Amino acid sequence: MNDSFAHRAADWDSPAKIEMTEIFVAEMMHHIKPSKSWKALEIGAGTGLVGLQILPYIGEIVFEDTSAAMLGVLKSKLKGLESVAMLHGEVSDYRKQDIDLIFSCMAFHHIPKIEETLRHLYEITTPGALIVVGDIRSEDGSFHRFEPIPHRGFDTGLLSGQFHGAGFEVLVLRTYNVLTRERVKGKLTDYEQFIIVAKKR
Ligand SMILES: C[S@@+](CC[C@H](N)C(=O)[O-])C[C@H]1O[C@@H](n2cnc3c(N)ncnc32)[C@H](O)[C@@H]1O
Repeated sequence: MNDSFAHRAADWDSPAKIEMTEIFVAEMMHHIKPSKSWKALEIGAGTGLVGLQILPYIGEIVFEDTSAAMLGVLKSKLKGLESVAMLHGEVSDYRKQDIDLIFSCMAFHHIPKIEETLRHLYEITTPGALIVVGDIRSEDGSFHRFEPIPHRGFDTGLLSGQFHGAGFEVLVLRTYNVLTRERVKGKLTDYEQFIIVAKKR
């Protein structure tokens, strides 16, 4: 499996990344009330910056990621926590049908087939399950310095339709943060981060 984050894993937990995930978690918790009876799945969990903040409020979390290096950093933070499982692979590798909450921060733009993925999420979730996705709105490719990437952000109208088509009702769709970055030398660009909260119909 190609690990395009292998060289970034060790230094991933920078103050900027920690702040970015804290803003996402605050926004997510504003919209949902997790329960200790829930089982959650995080897509593109990376080093666990998001999921480890959610863990105290949830029964169990499966941290999924395609990067062994990122999951390796996460593993080093876990000291025998029984409420945690790790899945090194694509989310399509998760086959049980027991997930009450799915969340994902800044990972969806790395997933090539969104509609297929959403249909899979429908299959692995319980009735009324929630999905919370944070990512960036459509951008010109500069966010990843014009490297090849499955999605240059998302047209959220289109993405919302894809959630609907896969069997989810979109409850919330809003911009929750703006990242200002100098990805092109001498030019500051604003990248809007959106959140979608959707419920299985
Ligand atoms: C920008 S990082 C975000 C990590 C973490 N969510 C955070 O906010 O710190 C994107 C993550 O998605 C993972 N990823 C890339 N392609 C993926 C895929 N097809 N399925 C799941 N995760 C993927 C990467 O390995 C990486 O850990």
